Amino acid sequence: MKAKIIDGKMAAEAIRNQVREKASSMKVKPGLAVIIVGNDPASKIYVRKKEQACREVGFHSVVVELPEDVSELKLLQQIDSLNQDRKIHGILVQLPLPGHIDERLVIDAILPTKDVDGFTPINMGNLVVGDNRLVPSTPRGIIKLIESTGIKISGKHAVVVGRSNIVGKPVSLLLQQHGATVTMCHSRSSPLESYTKQADILISAVGKPKLIKGDMVKKGAIVIDVGTTKVGSSIVGDVDFDSASDVASFITPVPGGVGPMTIACLLENTLQAAQSFGKNL
Ligand code: GUN
Repeated sequence: MKAKIIDGKMAAEAIRNQVREKASSMKVKPGLAVIIVGNDPASKIYVRKKEQACREVGFHSVVVELPEDVSELKLLQQIDSLNQDRKIHGILVQLPLPGHIDERLVIDAILPTKDVDGFTPINMGNLVVGDNRLVPSTPRGIIKLIESTGIKISGKHAVVVGRSNIVGKPVSLLLQQHGATVTMCHSRSSPLESYTKQADILISAVGKPKLIKGDMVKKGAIVIDVGTTKVGSSIVGDVDFDSASDVASFITPVPGGVGPMTIACLLENTLQAAQSFGKNL
């Protein structure tokens, strides 16, 4: 039997509706500022989507576009000014940044209470000790998608392919918190299929088109595809959808799976930051 498709668009819409309703009763509109450096076409599309999503739920939204050759100092000054801006509750610097800019230094400059990506060392550290304040959006969305299947995470073996700060590391921590036994795989995990075949929950976030084939998936597994690689004019996931959906019980499509959830959870984080504004400064 073919796997059931986990519809990220529908789940994201439900979250957006909740966020819109909660925001409408707030005295001050939640405000999100997104900084983009340079002209990377994919980053520009993501930023436009984030801006559109903010408008749709009634948030105040600011996009700061800086040139590719902007100095690190100028970028840090921009962050500092947004840190002090009382209309802005969330700040996000779209990644990746150009090579001459120290990404860690830039992220560390964001006020942790406005860090709606959850990427600052403070928020990452909080996640490690199980104190979930602002949790990175994609991992948060992934957990919600798994929960939407009705299958319990607790007691399952989850295998995460990819160890990035944005997805692999935080999603592994969240899965552990939910009671899964977690294996983290990366480019040196060999042979990869010896790990993936043991997964009740398989998450791939490496950006290698069709890396995970059906014969690498355990029968009945939940498969979450976080990959989004542009191949020609289409976006292709890490999972070979056709062969994997013959074996899995549930699977996310690309596009329309994890992607919409990332933006919906970013809105949730911004709402949360706005609700706490003033209480925790
Ligand atoms: N680039 C790719 N994904 C993300 C994300 O979730 N946040 C930011 N800031 N940049 C990204």
